[in-house]
Amino acid sequence: MEFSCTSIVYLHLVSLLLFVASSKIEALDPTLSTPEIISRFQQYLQINTAQPNPQYYEAADFLISQAKSLSLESQTIEFVKGKPLVLLKWPGTNPHLPSILLYSHTDVVPSEDHKWTHHPFSAHIDEKGNIYARGSQDMKCVGMQYLEAIRRLKASGFQPLRTVYLSFAPDEEIGGHDGAEKFYESKLFDDLNVGIVLDEGLASPSENYRAFYAERSPWWLVIKAIGTPGHGARLYDNTAMENLLKSIESIRRFRASQFDMIKVGLKGEGEVISVNMVFLKAGTPSPTGFVMNVQPSEAEAGIDIRVPPTADPESLEKRIAEEWAPIARNMTFSFKQKAPVHDKFGKPMLTKADRSNPWWTLLEDAVHKAGGKLGKPEIFPGATDARYLRRRGLPAIGFSPIANTPLLLHEHDEFLNQDVYLKGIEIYEAIIKAYASFAERGTDKGSRDEL
Ligand SMILES: *[C@@H]1O[C@H](CO)[C@@H](O)[C@H](O)[C@H]1NC(C)=O
Ligand SMILES: [Zn+2]
Repeated sequence: MEFSCTSIVYLHLVSLLLFVASSKIEALDPTLSTPEIISRFQQYLQINTAQPNPQYYEAADFLISQAKSLSLESQTIEFVKGKPLVLLKWPGTNPHLPSILLYSHTDVVPSEDHKWTHHPFSAHIDEKGNIYARGSQDMKCVGMQYLEAIRRLKASGFQPLRTVYLSFAPDEEIGGHDGAEKFYESKLFDDLNVGIVLDEGLASPSENYRAFYAERSPWWLVIKAIGTPGHGARLYDNTAMENLLKSIESIRRFRASQFDMIKVGLKGEGEVISVNMVFLKAGTPSPTGFVMNVQPSEAEAGIDIRVPPTADPESLEKRIAEEWAPIARNMTFSFKQKAPVHDKFGKPMLTKADRSNPWWTLLEDAVHKAGGKLGKPEIFPGATDARYLRRRGLPAIGFSPIANTPLLLHEHDEFLNQDVYLKGIEIYEAIIKAYASFAERGTDKGSRDEL
């Protein structure tokens, strides 16, 4: 298609007008321009906070400088020396109402730099607008989007009714014991009088954002069989290997039954009990490997089990004791980790994700109002720091506004498109506005009642 001279002039005029309209708010405050927003995100991504040696202080300094530019109150708390947690506060006009906590973690998982197309701490933007960096999805995006949303809300003159807190915690990627776990159990946290927490979710390859109302609890099981040792040529009963293999057969049948429910679409990934063998330890070592003509007297296997809060932990315990490691087959078992499935009130560790929970309703409506779509609420398949909060019976929603994006957390070439990032800021702007304006007490009935 060709344009005449006049149509080109006309097009220029139209784009000029569009530019003026879209940059009305930016004109008031140059820090709200897209290049500045993206550049701030890049700066945060460029701080190497990879485990096992995260540059926590650099990240904290950067976040506090952001807080200053937004006139937010800030403090740094070290529950464990060398592991700062940055807490920011935007005071509400009614400090008696429960507050909002916007949670994120500052650390990221390690990367094999040479396997990346662009260096994982370069925050390189390619011609498609994809920003490559470790943490671009998990979860530096979310931490910065909270701040950018607040920047926009402040520029628009919005005053929160409820106090809004932001916490940037260390160590999530190594279990959160020196970060979120200590924070959520602290007096300091109790004093914040938090009514709802937003934590991380997962990227969605479809146009629907994903939201998580619970997560599965890891049970790391080790089963051990003993049996009569003997010559490798003899056929006899009750060897350690045979005893262990009977368990493994039973475990595999159970695994298949759970996996089938996902395959036929009856259940989501986080709704089944996943069971995966992670190690096998048996055999009599020799200088060249293993002795081939001896049946060993011991054999062991490790299994990573993930239990959704909707499952019955007692029946799983019974299955382990009676079928997977029965004493009658000379087997024993122990747990390397056994996270609770129920909260301290004995209820399934989950946040209601329906219209009976006003925080859920507000989030759902805000996402729609900002032009986003939300998929069916899900159970997070892995672990997040939200478990330390739900354990206390407090509500948390896992949400990262990342749609139309492949799920790349912990993988090579983790990236986030800049338009997706910018859209996420609008989504948070709507959510934070709705949450901070919510006038009712809005406690998650049932659990809070008993506190
Ligand atoms: C269990 O161990 C005992 C004692 O060594 C042995 O007599 C019995 O046959 C073993 N049973 C099985 C099922 O391995
Ligand atoms: Zn994360």
